[in-house]
Amino acid sequence: MSKGNYYITTPIYYPSAKLHIGHTYCTVATDAMARYKRLQGYNVKFLTGTDEHGQKIEDKAKEAGVTPQEFVDNIVTGEGGVLDLWKLMNISYDRFIRTTDDYHVAAIQKIFKKMYEKGDIYKGKYTGKYCKPCESFWTESQLVDGKCPDCGREVQDAQEEAYFFRLSKYADRICDLLENTDFLEPRSRVHEMVNNFIKPGLEDLCVSRTSFTWGVPVDFDPGHVVYVWIDALFNYMTALGFENDKYQDVSDFWPADVHFVGKEIVRFHSIIWPAMLMSLDLPLPKKVYGHGWLLLDGGKMSKSKGNVVDPYILAERFGVDALRFFLLRSFPFGSDGNFSNELLISTINTDLANDLGNLVSRTVAMAQKYFGEKLPENQEADDGMDSELLEMATGLRAKYQEQMDAYAFQNALAEVFKVISRANKYIDENAPWVLAKDETKHPRLAKVLYNLLETVRICAGLLTPFMPATSAEIASRLGGADMSWDSLGVFGVLRADVATVNGPALFPRIDMEKELAALEELSKPVSDIQIEPYAEEAVDFDTFCKSDFRAVKVKDCQNVKKSDKLLQFTLDDGTGTDRQILSGIAKFYKPEDLIGKTLVAITNLPPRKLMGRESCGMLLSAVHTEKGEEKLNLIMLDDAIPAGAKLC
Ligand code: MSP
Repeated sequence: MSKGNYYITTPIYYPSAKLHIGHTYCTVATDAMARYKRLQGYNVKFLTGTDEHGQKIEDKAKEAGVTPQEFVDNIVTGEGGVLDLWKLMNISYDRFIRTTDDYHVAAIQKIFKKMYEKGDIYKGKYTGKYCKPCESFWTESQLVDGKCPDCGREVQDAQEEAYFFRLSKYADRICDLLENTDFLEPRSRVHEMVNNFIKPGLEDLCVSRTSFTWGVPVDFDPGHVVYVWIDALFNYMTALGFENDKYQDVSDFWPADVHFVGKEIVRFHSIIWPAMLMSLDLPLPKKVYGHGWLLLDGGKMSKSKGNVVDPYILAERFGVDALRFFLLRSFPFGSDGNFSNELLISTINTDLANDLGNLVSRTVAMAQKYFGEKLPENQEADDGMDSELLEMATGLRAKYQEQMDAYAFQNALAEVFKVISRANKYIDENAPWVLAKDETKHPRLAKVLYNLLETVRICAGLLTPFMPATSAEIASRLGGADMSWDSLGVFGVLRADVATVNGPALFPRIDMEKELAALEELSKPVSDIQIEPYAEEAVDFDTFCKSDFRAVKVKDCQNVKKSDKLLQFTLDDGTGTDRQILSGIAKFYKPEDLIGKTLVAITNLPPRKLMGRESCGMLLSAVHTEKGEEKLNLIMLDDAIPAGAKLC
C-alpha cells in the first residue's frame, strides 16, 4: 500500500552548454531522494527538465548559426545531451519538461494574464543605460568603466516599456515565511535571503522584455516576452497539468514536497516563487532546499576547466554507481565542497573497494569455500561475539532514515559505512578460516557467515538509492535477497540456508598514481580544430600552372533532386556563356544564400557527369574538422572582382 504521494523536483537546466559534474550533483541527489521515498513505499513523482528560453540561448544559437530551437534540441536530445546524460547516470525521473513544450508555453501565457488581471502585474517603464549600436539595455552595475560591456561605447539613459510584478506587496509575508517556518533550508540560507534581499527593501520585479524574442510571448501585448524566470519557475506546476490539459496531477502532487536547488538560485525559489504563488492564491511548496556547490580548486566549475569535470569521462572510467556514491558521500549537501580527482579515487578505494567490496567478496567467497552453494541450517550463535554487530545492523535503518529525512546524504552513508566497517572487524574477530579447520566449529562458522550475509543485505539495501545497480547485484549474490524497506529494519530475514552466488570484484582498486596521470593527460586542452595533413608529394611548377583558376559569380543555385549532397550552380565565368558546376556541399549551404556570391572555380578539368548532369569544373573550398565535425567554407572573393578574372 502506498504511503502517500511525494513530489520532488530538480532545477531545470539551461541547455546553453553541455552539462558538467556540478550539474549532475543536484540531479543525482534528487534521484537518491526519489528512490529513497519509493523504497519506503511512497508514490513518487520526480520532475526534471530544461529551461530553454532567454537571451543567452538566443545569442548562443546565433553564434552557432542555427535557430534557437535547433540549438536547444541539439543539447537536450542530441547525442551526449541532457537526456543521454540522465540515462547514463541512471536518473529515475518520472517526468521531463521542456519549457518550449507547447502545453507549457500556453499555460505560461494564461498565468501571466491572470496575474495581470489581478493587478499584480502592471505596465511600467524600465529605466537603464542603453547602448544604441548594440541595442542593449544595461544596469549601472553591468557597465564597464561606465561604458557598454559588449562594445565599449558610450551608453545613454533610456527607458523601455515593460511589465512589472508587485513583489514589494508580498515582502512581509515572504519575510514571515522565511523567518518563522521551515520553508527554506538549510537555515543559513534564510539569513542570507532576509539580510541581503528582504531587509534592504524588495522592489517590484521586471517580468517582460522587448529586446529579444526567444521567449513566451505576452499574448495580449505582442513585442513583449515573459521574463525567463517566471516561465521557468512555473514549470513545477505546468508539468503537473496546471493551466493545461496535458496532465491531471495537480490535486495529487501539489504542493511539492521539496524543490532541490543550487545556492545561487535560492533567491528565485524562496522569494519570487512563493510571492507569485501567493498572488494566484496557490499553496506553497512544503520546502526549498538550497544545496552547496561543487568547487574546482576552490572556484566555480565550468566546462572550460577541462575533462576532469565531464561526467561522461568520469562515469566511463570509474562507473556510474561509484560516481553517484562519491558525490553524495564526500560533501555535506548543504555546503560547498571541493571536487578533486584524488578525493574521488581515494573515496572509491577506501569505501567501495576496501570496505564494501571486500566485505561482499570475502563473505560470499568464504560461504562458498566452506559450505558450497548453501549455508547449513545448523548454526550456533554466540551473544558475546555477535551482539554488537547485530545491534548496529538492526538499528541502522532508523539512524539512516533520520539523516535521509534531513537531506543529510553524507551522514546517512556514514551510518551505513560504520556498520560495514564493524562487519569487516567482525570477520577478523571471528577468524572464519580458523573455525573452518575444526569440524566441531562449523555450526559457529555458519552463524558467523550468516550474520555477515545478513549485515550485507541490510547495508546494500539501504545503499539502493545511491547505487541502484550495485545493490541489485549484491541482492543477486545473496541468492535474490529481500531488500524491501520493511525487511531492512529487521535482522534475520535471509533464510538460514541462504544460497550465495560468486562474482567478480564489485569495485576493483584503482592505482591512484596511474589514474591521476591518465586523467591529467585527458584534461589537457585539445585543439577543437583539426586540419588535413599536408601532402608529401611535390608537384612541379609547370604542372601546377596548368590549372586555370577563375573568379565566377553565382547566377543560380539549386538543390539536385534525389540527392542530399549535390548543389547545381549556374555561373557567370566572364565568357558570356553560363557554366554549370555540381558540387557536393548541400549539407553546408542553403542554395539561396549563395546567389550573387563571387567564388573560385578550376575551369579546365574535363567535364564529368553527376546524377546525369554535366559538371564543368570544380569550386574551391576550405575544409577542416571542428570538435570531430566536418566543416567546409567556399572560398569567396571580393565582389569587386569581375567574373572571369584569372587567379594566379
Ligand atoms: N535554469 C535555471 C534553473 C531554473 S529552475 C526553475 C538554472 N539552470 S542551470 O543549468 O544554470 O543550473 C542548474 C542547477 O545546477 C542549479 O541548481 C545550479 O546551482 C546547479 N549547479 C551548476 N553548477 C554547480 C556546481 N558546480 N555545483 C553544484 N551545483 C551546481 O539555474
